[in-house]
Amino acid sequence: MDTDLEHQNKAIIQGLEIIIRYLDDEDKYNKQQIMRIAKSHNHYNLDIHPHSYYYWIEALILTIKKFDSQWFDDLEYYWRECVSVPINFITSQFFVQDSLSK
Ligand code: HEM
Repeated sequence: MDTDLEHQNKAIIQGLEIIIRYLDDEDKYNKQQIMRIAKSHNHYNLDIHPHSYYYWIEALILTIKKFDSQWFDDLEYYWRECVSVPINFITSQFFVQDSLSK
């Protein structure tokens, strides 16, 4: 597979920032960004099936566990709780057409 790792790296960091900030109620910009990602990843665009997010979360946890020097075991549950909120929204929009703003 011919993957542009630098491009992928930027997309992952940008995506993670949006995910974490999504939980901040004051922050409308990141709510809009999650809506945009929900639309770009839905069945009618990138067609990322909801089951793929399971692997995305597992890879994220394994990676953080490996590289976070301040890791402690309960952190895994905090991460899972935080990412599940926006990911549940994204997957809920899989078959929704044209209902989201850009
Ligand atoms: C919550 C999890 C995810 C987040 C936050 C996320 C975020 C992003 C962002 C920010 C982009 C750049 C384009 C855009 O802004 O729409 C992107 C592109 C992309 N994502 Fe995701 N993504 C997630 C999960 C996934 C999963 C599970 C897959 C597939 C297994 C995937 C596949 C792709 C592909 C193929 C692209 C296009 C890459 C490109 O244009 O070069 N994403 N994603």
